[in-house]
Amino acid sequence: MISKQGIIVCLTFEPIVEVSYMQNVKISVLGLGHIGLPTALLFASAGHNVVGIDTDKRKVDLLNSGELPFQEPGLDELFKKAKNNFRATTEVEESDVFLIAVPTPLEERTKAADLRYVKSAAEMIWPHLKKGNLVILESTVPPKTTERILVPILEKSGLKAGEDFYVVHCPERAIPGKTIYEIVHNDRIIGGITPESAEVAKKLYASFVKGNIYLTDATTAEFVKLIENTYRDVNIALVNELAQIAEDYGINIWEAIELANKHPRVNLHKPGPGVGGHCIAIDPWFVIQNSSNGRMISLARYINDTMPNYVLRKVREMLKDIHFPTVTVFGVAYKGNVDDARETPALRFIKLAENDGFKIKVYDPFVKEFEYPLLSLEEAVKDSDCIVVITDHEVFKFLDPEEIGRLMRHKFVFDGRNILDHKKWKKAGFTVKVLGNGKEIL
Ligand SMILES: NC(=O)c1ccc[n+]([C@@H]2O[C@H](COP(=O)([O-])OP(=O)(O)OC[C@H]3O[C@@H](n4cnc5c(N)ncnc54)[C@H](O)[C@@H]3O)[C@@H](O)[C@H]2O)c1
Repeated sequence: MISKQGIIVCLTFEPIVEVSYMQNVKISVLGLGHIGLPTALLFASAGHNVVGIDTDKRKVDLLNSGELPFQEPGLDELFKKAKNNFRATTEVEESDVFLIAVPTPLEERTKAADLRYVKSAAEMIWPHLKKGNLVILESTVPPKTTERILVPILEKSGLKAGEDFYVVHCPERAIPGKTIYEIVHNDRIIGGITPESAEVAKKLYASFVKGNIYLTDATTAEFVKLIENTYRDVNIALVNELAQIAEDYGINIWEAIELANKHPRVNLHKPGPGVGGHCIAIDPWFVIQNSSNGRMISLARYINDTMPNYVLRKVREMLKDIHFPTVTVFGVAYKGNVDDARETPALRFIKLAENDGFKIKVYDPFVKEFEYPLLSLEEAVKDSDCIVVITDHEVFKFLDPEEIGRLMRHKFVFDGRNILDHKKWKKAGFTVKVLGNGKEIL
């Protein structure tokens, strides 16, 4: 039973003993993806008995045969460390804790969250729910999802949320490439449907989290996660708009931002050819989906989503004398130095450019899977007329423009990220344009 004093803890829930964190609890983690798997393994390596559940049988079989379904720094070591306390399966079973880390994609046509995986996970849990259990929703969701979608499904068990079992939303802030470090070290927000729920979940997370843990209600926690990314999206939209205005005035936005950021209370973001990934381009839509407000947020989404159109217009201006130009896209990952192309602005640029009569070739040294063929550097630049830098992969800085220029038909480069050494590319005979730079490059 849930303690009214909120000092519960061992999830057998009989004697109510206050401890600083929970030990040896049985935790079922639903969704063994980029967030669920590291989280499950962290709980297992902290001594809990963890069952990982995924509807993808291939993933389950791989894990049970000792292989990882994807790579992430540190995951291999963590998997080895957690092995004795972790197993994977496709079926939910009785547990003390159920943790949901399933996908919550954006439904493109309606710009609303597709909550079907959250609902199906909740449907899988409720037949196994017992008094005193804790259910954690880690998936990113629109405000009120925990209260209005998750709880009613769980209550099909006949138990009452907040009275018979605990429910919290505990959003994840980790970034691909540093997921494990960030899951452990970032500060966390836990929102309970009751204060007791949040307290119990805090004791569980304290078994491996080294960051601070802040408690609030479930809807606030949902909202907080979303406004973090909305803040970034709106700020990027601001500089993307300023980049276009700067070109109108014949000035360089990159220089202007550097100077403006000398102000002690100003921190302008960097402009670019658009925003991608599974968070910044999506979460702002979740914020406004159940609200009649949100004009600035939708405008920011519009500005960022149409940056590929702006880049294309600039590229077209550069190549106005070339019939049926071939353009090489440098980078299709949504951001530098990662292999993740989800929601990438590169795809929109490529599709728009193709519709405009351009032939497109793609080079990305990190991305393994993409809608278009990924070519070697040499194949990608051979007989091309122009390079368009979409992603700020560090390695692009070290490319040799002399060598690349020798393979190309015409030597044009559009730097959408301001990462190339422009003088070097000019010296190699390239006409160079930079997003947001209205000054001539000398
Ligand atoms: N990846 C990140 O860096 C990140 C960061 C912050 C927040 N998030 C959020 O975390 C959530 C999970 O994201 P992810 O990147 O780990 O997703 P993912 O696509 O990598 O993995 C999700 C897994 O859930 C499984 N699944 C779907 N329905 C299921 C069900 N009913 N029961 C069990 N398994 C099921 C899928 O087969 C898949 O293996 C999303 O809401 C996402 O927005 C992700």
